[in-house]
Amino acid sequence: MSYNIAVIVGSLRKESFTLKIANALTKLAPDTLKLNPVTLYDVSFFNQDLEATPPADWLAFREKLQKSDAILFVTPEYNRSIPGVLKNAIDVGSRPPGKSSFLGKPIGIISNSPGPLGGVSAAKHLQNILPGISGPILGQPETYLNGVGDAFDEKGNLTKEPLQKVLQQYLVAFAAFVDRQSKIAA
Ligand code: FNR
Repeated sequence: MSYNIAVIVGSLRKESFTLKIANALTKLAPDTLKLNPVTLYDVSFFNQDLEATPPADWLAFREKLQKSDAILFVTPEYNRSIPGVLKNAIDVGSRPPGKSSFLGKPIGIISNSPGPLGGVSAAKHLQNILPGISGPILGQPETYLNGVGDAFDEKGNLTKEPLQKVLQQYLVAFAAFVDRQSKIAA
């Protein structure tokens, strides 16, 4: 059994560490997980006035979520929270009311920072935002990657071995969690 995982990338920056981590995860994933990075460049601002006739980009983003078996958020921290683009995408995906595209989907969260705290506050804010609109959130191992600034080579490959190990351990736990939740839901 193989599961499709939408990996939501919380940064728009071209050289984003978050995007590089998402790409590294796709390579480190066990055979049971197919990770598809989802960037947020094309998700336009949520505006409740547009809900009756949602823009095509909202529908496309929601469809990517709906087609996935689970969602893995990879996010940096902006001012002790998640970046606005990520909150906007969550708002878009959460609507219409009661029909959130995250509903029932097992959720993973990995935060990161070049700084010492690993973006822990961003991860904690996601844990506050999601429960009303998503499926269950994997609690452990808590994964707040710090010191990501020197973790990649010039081609963007993850070269810092301790981080590779942490990500591998996370993916093993996430694969088991997704499998367990999918069986419970079936
Ligand atoms: C940051 N950064 C940051 N880092 C952190 O650890 N805690 C924080 O609260 C913040 N706040 C913050 C606010 C804003 C507006 C910016 C632009 C940056 C630094 C941040 O971790 C760094 O820029 C990362 O490189 C951003 O992630 P990407 O784009 O590399 O994925």
